[in-house]
Amino acid sequence: MRISSVLVSALYASICSAAPAIINTTSGLLQGSVTNGVSSFKGIRFAQPPTGALRWEPPIPFISTRVQNVTTLGPSCLQQFPFASSALDQFLFNNPADPPAENEDCLFLNVWAPASQNRKLPVLVWIYGGALSFGTASLPAYDGTSFAANQDIILVTFNYRTNVFGFPELAFLWVQDNIANFGGDPDQVTIMGQSAGSQSVSSAISRHTSGNAPFRAGIMLSGAQVSMVPIPSFTSFNNFSTAVGCTQAPGPGRLACLKQVPAATIRNFTNGPASGSFAPVVDDVTVFSDPLHRIRTGLTARVPFIIGNTQDDGSVFALGLTDLSAFLTTTFAGLVTADQVRPLYPGLNDSQIISEIIKDAEFLCPAELWSGAAVVPEIFGTFIAATATPAEATLSHTMQTLVANFVKNPTVAPAPNWPKYVPGNRTTTLAKLAYSGNVEANNVVQSVQSDSIDFQCNALWNRFLDIRV
Ligand SMILES: *[C@@H]1O[C@H](CO)[C@@H](O)[C@H](O)[C@H]1NC(C)=O
Ligand SMILES: *[C@@H]1O[C@H](CO)[C@@H](O)[C@H](O)[C@H]1NC(C)=O
Ligand SMILES: *[C@@H]1O[C@H](CO)[C@@H](O)[C@H](O)[C@H]1NC(C)=O
Ligand SMILES: *[C@@H]1O[C@H](CO)[C@@H](O)[C@H](O)[C@H]1NC(C)=O
Ligand SMILES: *[C@@H]1O[C@H](CO)[C@@H](O)[C@H](O)[C@H]1NC(C)=O
Ligand SMILES: *[C@@H]1O[C@H](CO)[C@@H](O)[C@H](O)[C@H]1NC(C)=O
Repeated sequence: MRISSVLVSALYASICSAAPAIINTTSGLLQGSVTNGVSSFKGIRFAQPPTGALRWEPPIPFISTRVQNVTTLGPSCLQQFPFASSALDQFLFNNPADPPAENEDCLFLNVWAPASQNRKLPVLVWIYGGALSFGTASLPAYDGTSFAANQDIILVTFNYRTNVFGFPELAFLWVQDNIANFGGDPDQVTIMGQSAGSQSVSSAISRHTSGNAPFRAGIMLSGAQVSMVPIPSFTSFNNFSTAVGCTQAPGPGRLACLKQVPAATIRNFTNGPASGSFAPVVDDVTVFSDPLHRIRTGLTARVPFIIGNTQDDGSVFALGLTDLSAFLTTTFAGLVTADQVRPLYPGLNDSQIISEIIKDAEFLCPAELWSGAAVVPEIFGTFIAATATPAEATLSHTMQTLVANFVKNPTVAPAPNWPKYVPGNRTTTLAKLAYSGNVEANNVVQSVQSDSIDFQCNALWNRFLDIRV
């Protein structure tokens, strides 16, 4: 009896790997691929190309009934690396292997799901970081195979346009419309982001009202939107318009001109020395000026969330280091190796390279972008296994399991000893993870007093915890 059931499941698995299902979606009939028991669907077009007349307009759904071969990750959106000197930034945040191209036509998403499943699975939607200026869902570190294979959940990643529309909604709506056909449950969606992606999660929580959010929980890794300047400066945009030859006064005429500027020209200017920065604009639809006030007064999605930081956010600035491999391991947790970094700094020895990396990192302040990014491969299980220590492998499994436990049920503690915030009881409000090398899932959490954690966002943390529901 038992043997035949094993044989049946083995047969089923081999059938699945031979013939990936075609999934019917609003984007068409998607033909993905199956590897090691995980179905992947890469480069799904979910919005019309945001080019020409649609440049800088709200995204419009892409609707199709045709068969789409979705086996290759989509191109990154146009990237702005304002600190053009930094080859490392581009290496870390813009090096998708499959393929590496940037294109203004970039609104693609990816889905990883267990190939065989017999119940509706929880869904985790990932929003990458990159200062709302760069980054891509096509980074190898964000591959969802490990999550789908080891945690029995569905992982969705997607590209969003840099600079202008950092807080996307259309991808969430696509998940609501389509994820059931992949075996997912649209009522069990958690959104998770790092750095700017984390801000996007906080923004999504604050722009939705109770009961209408296309997600039921949020995870914020290093960063939350606290307050926004209600009246932005348009100086950067005016300078940009003039530089690319659209000298009309602000208004429809100038916008029409700007929509015809080649993307390559825009990319060249925004990565040049005079580019300035382009912050999100408060419109009281996608972005609000005071999300904390909205949360306090109950105007937002009342969903459980985890919000956290890495304790050693400043470690990237440590000086006096000469061992490049050790430095990269400490700072980037295996995301990047010495052999990968050395060619980016030709003619320099390892000490000089460390110094250059620290300089690059300082330009990218806040450092949490880096430290948060370093944690990501652990969570995704995409750390470099060949060079990982057993503790790193255990930590990765532990962190991924904590995230997955929360995705599966955000109303219970994701690990033993995890402190749930109780209004008015500040004694043990923080879950300190993997402290003192303690990486096993059953004792990874040390519940500590919030004021014992010395990091700059402590005040923000407490304010969030004050209003957590
Ligand atoms: C795909 O789903 C749509 C909407 O439910 C339906 O109209 C269409 O017939 C389906 N296509 C196939 C090939 O099943
Ligand atoms: C789908 O795309 C992949 C990668 O480009 C290619 O290897 C494969 O042959 C394509 N499959 C079909 C059915 O076109
Ligand atoms: C690219 O940008 C540089 C510096 O901003 C500028 O001098 C140059 O003219 C630009 N080239 C093109 C082709 O737009
Ligand atoms: C805009 O251009 C002016 C004149 O070139 C320059 O002084 C200013 O710094 C620029 N501002 C921004 C935000 O790029
Ligand atoms: C690296 O090069 C600098 C500049 O030439 C030199 O001062 C330093 O001693 C070198 N460090 C090592 C470890 O070789
Ligand atoms: C408040 O925290 C203390 C210390 O962790 C705990 O013993 C107590 O049960 C908490 N009170 C409530 C109401 O949860």
